Amino acid sequence: MPLVDQKEILLPALKEHRAVGAFNANNMEMVQAFTWAAEEMSKELGKPVDLIIQLSPGASKYAGWSLGAGMVKIVANESKIRIALNLDHGTTIDDVKKSLENGFTAVLIDASALSLDENMKLTKETVKMCHDVGVPVEAELGKIPKIEDYFSSSEIAHLRSLPDAEAVKIIREKAGKSVEELMAKPDDVEKFVNGTGCDFLAAAFGSIHGIWGDIWPIRVDRLIEIQNRTPLPLVSHGSSGILMNRKVAAEKGIELRENEGTLLDAIQTGGVTKVNVATALSIAFIEGFTDSFKANPSEKDFRKLGGPGRDKVKEKTKEYMKLFAGL
Ligand code: G3H
Ligand code: ZN
Repeated sequence: MPLVDQKEILLPALKEHRAVGAFNANNMEMVQAFTWAAEEMSKELGKPVDLIIQLSPGASKYAGWSLGAGMVKIVANESKIRIALNLDHGTTIDDVKKSLENGFTAVLIDASALSLDENMKLTKETVKMCHDVGVPVEAELGKIPKIEDYFSSSEIAHLRSLPDAEAVKIIREKAGKSVEELMAKPDDVEKFVNGTGCDFLAAAFGSIHGIWGDIWPIRVDRLIEIQNRTPLPLVSHGSSGILMNRKVAAEKGIELRENEGTLLDAIQTGGVTKVNVATALSIAFIEGFTDSFKANPSEKDFRKLGGPGRDKVKEKTKEYMKLFAGL
């Protein structure tokens, strides 16, 4: 079926206290993997699983705006799954214009690098442009940093080689205070939401973009304070790094403080309705691709490597969908 408005996916999810995955695609294989995962999960669960596919401005430039969006539109048209196409982390009016020209059905304007007033101004301008053509807008309050803001690439490579609990300890020491300071302030929520007219809120509640495995706890106390200030669907960013649930935390030996929680807590008690995942899926593709090449270093056929990459992305996507379905 044609792409659907992201509101049609998120408003029912909000009512039913469940989350929908918003997965970042960087190539054709990932678009297929997300859709096939949703189709398979729909069959396994016996009820439809909705899907949000996201393209960042970077991914849209990599593929070309029209080819990137075009792939998602074609895959959606050929599927019975309800799929929305979201611009992820647009930062300029030009990004917004390009996504509207190319038929995106939702837009995130991320003006979190600006002051609160400037953020509101750019978000309001985006809302006007998008609502004029019936497209909903996600906006960002507070700032969700990326792991590269705190560690160099060689430090990240080292952290990835450590036991998870040890990596978390080091990240807490170096980034913890800053991540806390960047969180959205509950007192700003009503002013921001009412002043901009945005439809979905990506508020910072302690996550970090770009962590390689689910190891990082979020500040569920702050999330709940934010949730108490707005009826809008909330969005979790940097979700690859967030601990999936308390069982995983215990298995990894990662201790949660009293005010901390997991992705499942964010959905069940924090009102998170849209869960953005990028890094975990990118890593899944790279692993599937490179493992196949290592197993057969004489391989010359791209499809023999891209196919396993796609399979790994599909499996990882299903893992998230199962979590969201409470399995
Ligand atoms: O907007 C995209 C997400 O916030 C992805 O973050 O790469 O840490 O999963 P992630
Ligand atoms: Zn994000």
